[in-house]
Amino acid sequence: MKMHMNHFENNRESWNELTALHAGSSFYDLEGFKNGKSSLNHIEIEELGDIKGKKILHLQCHFGMDTLSLARLGAEVVGVDISDASIAKAKELASELDIPARFIRSNVYELENVLDETFDIVYTSYGAINWLDDLDKWAKIIRSYLQPIGIFYMVEFHPFIYTLNDDSEISDSYFKSDALESVVEQSYTDQSEISGKKLKHIEWHHSLSEVINSLISNDLKLEFLNEFPYQVYDCFPNLTACGQGKWMNEKYGNKVPHMYSIKARKSHTITL
Ligand SMILES: C[S@@+](CC[C@H](N)C(=O)[O-])C[C@H]1O[C@@H](n2cnc3c(N)ncnc32)[C@H](O)[C@@H]1O
Repeated sequence: MKMHMNHFENNRESWNELTALHAGSSFYDLEGFKNGKSSLNHIEIEELGDIKGKKILHLQCHFGMDTLSLARLGAEVVGVDISDASIAKAKELASELDIPARFIRSNVYELENVLDETFDIVYTSYGAINWLDDLDKWAKIIRSYLQPIGIFYMVEFHPFIYTLNDDSEISDSYFKSDALESVVEQSYTDQSEISGKKLKHIEWHHSLSEVINSLISNDLKLEFLNEFPYQVYDCFPNLTACGQGKWMNEKYGNKVPHMYSIKARKSHTITL
């Protein structure tokens, strides 16, 4: 775990650098958001259903646009992120827009040290679990924050997409990886340079079975698993537009999965 803490510290610093760049990018369209536009996509809006009055814990909330969009739909929200800059920006936005929300700076794996309450829904989305090494531990944490029969909902980039290199050839393993280190000079947002700096990212790949089994073995009962033949963000190489707010890999098109979503419900007891 000690070695992993260094990885997380590294990633925390990277995300601190990225936050200001992202907040100013056309990709995140903060101005549109400030003017009332939701940052949520049709998938999570439809699959979550009515969240009015629901208490939601949003893991890895970045600078809070999605968290605040959930609040605008009437949910009582708590956003958590490892990045100091992201959480500072999220708090600033909540205050500027007068949206009630709480934000906590914490590593997901250390959240129990700073948050002791339960939620109707634990939520996480797009580009989150690739920053986590241990999904069994992650699922235990999710479970611990859910009220009895509470819901876990996630929507993520499909692990197949992470096997592709910049030429859309399968180069990386689909299956659970050790820590993967990369040096990043441009963000996925609008390809602008990161103030001339090179950031080190440490990530992990997780297959679909690893995600699902971590939930099942922690008594989170799957209600659905959906796979999508397109992305809702233009943030991977070689994507081509295929509809309003939809992109697909130009080589494989809709023959391959691009994203997936899961809804699971906390069961009453852990099965031994
Ligand atoms: C691509 S962003 C996710 C954005 C997300 N779609 C949203 O709701 O806006 C990934 C986020 O994960 C955060 N993160 C990475 N590792 C983390 C960890 N161990 N614990 C908490 N947050 C983490 C980063 O700081 C970053 O804000």
